[in-house]
Order: sequence, then C-alpha cells, then structure tokens
Amino acid sequence: MMRLDKLLALHGFGTRNHVKKIIKAQRVRVNDDLVVDPAFKLDAELDHITVDHKTLTHRDKVHYMLNKPQGYICAHIDHRYPSVLELIHEKRSDLIIVGRLDVDTEGLLLISNDGLFSHQVSHGKKAIEKQYHVTLKDPFNRAYIPDLERGIALDDVQLKPAKVNVIDDYTLHLSISEGKKHQVKRMMRYCENEVVFLKRIKIGKLKLDESLSPGAYRLLESHEVDAIFKL
Ligand code: URA
Repeated sequence: MMRLDKLLALHGFGTRNHVKKIIKAQRVRVNDDLVVDPAFKLDAELDHITVDHKTLTHRDKVHYMLNKPQGYICAHIDHRYPSVLELIHEKRSDLIIVGRLDVDTEGLLLISNDGLFSHQVSHGKKAIEKQYHVTLKDPFNRAYIPDLERGIALDDVQLKPAKVNVIDDYTLHLSISEGKKHQVKRMMRYCENEVVFLKRIKIGKLKLDESLSPGAYRLLESHEVDAIFKL
C-alpha cells in the first residue's frame, strides 16, 4: 500500500506539496470515488486512479536495459563525467536512472520513464536481488563467507544477508538485495580486500544481455520486466 500523494509524485505530477494541491482541488479519483486526502492509502497495482479523468496507467512506459560503461555517471548533470543519459539516443525529458552504479562500475543499468517502476526496483517492499561480478586485488579469503551470508555491519548499518558464489581466487559473484553507497566495495574492504573491477550482471531474474557492448542499450520486453520481480 502506498500514499496517494507519494504515488502521484512518483508518476511525475510534481513535488509532494504540488501533488497535495492537485488532490485537494478534487482532481483525483480512486476507483471512481473522489479522494481529497493526500494520505489516502492505495494499491498501485490494483486500484484505478485518474487525474482529471485520465487514467494513470495510460502513460506510455519505456524501460531500457543499458550496458553501462565505465566513465559515465548515474546523475542527470555532473561537472566531471558525462551522464549515462547521454548514451540514450531518444531525447526525452522524462527518463529516470533506476538506482545507481559508481562511475567505475559497468554493467546492467535500467533507465525508465516510470517513477513507480524505479521505486519498486530500488526501494520496493519486495527486495530485489542484484548480482555483481567482482574482481579482487588479492585472493579472496573464504573465511569471510559466513559473515557475508549472515549480514555484516558497515558503519553501524546492518546489511541483509548476501549470497557469495566463488568463481576463482580473485573472482566472486556477489548477490545483495539493497543498494547502500559503494556497498560491494565496502563489503570487500571488510574482507580485507579491494575491488579492482565491478560489473552488475543481474537484477532479480533479469540478466544483462551480453550481446550489448558497453554503452549499448535496448528496450526491455514485457517478460523481462516481469523477470525483475520474480523471486
Ligand atoms: N557496489 C559498489 O560498491 N558500487 C556499485 O557501483 C554498485 C554496488
């Protein structure tokens, strides 16, 4: 369940304050009933919401899968690095970067015009697992696996359990279901090691399409969108 004002803000109707004014101006209906309470709780998947008699779900949604190259930043504007949005040829003003990868991280990045989708992938109730291919500076010390799988604390923040798949002495596939800043690099520092190469390879059950060279992207098909949310 989500608050009505939050849902409308995620759909690009403006700031929470602006959205509250829209709701109080009696422009919003939920399942055909007028709703004037911004805190009204609804189910974004099931409830039928209209603003000025236009159904919210009728917006055209686009979701791209980008193979992010190093040297691009997950921000709309930056003074030092080009934005990942510069790699998208369709110049539309409504695109959102879904989650964040560091400038020197490569791999699967989702770009969408759907704020609700972005919210569900990054901060939804259903935690979505993200898998990273990690290359390390020193041989991985397997003695740390139980800690990682139990969930370590980083700067007093308790992390959820991770899944560790050791590929070889210097390579792991690490799955985490949250996205704290520099999380994988900090987890490897906890293991007294250092990440020298990081690439995201999977979000939920959606794998990076390896036929996309770094910097290339394509639209997601609907079964691929579903795969993101499959447990
Ligand atoms: N963890 C990191 O340290 N960096 C990323 O870009 C993603 C996860």
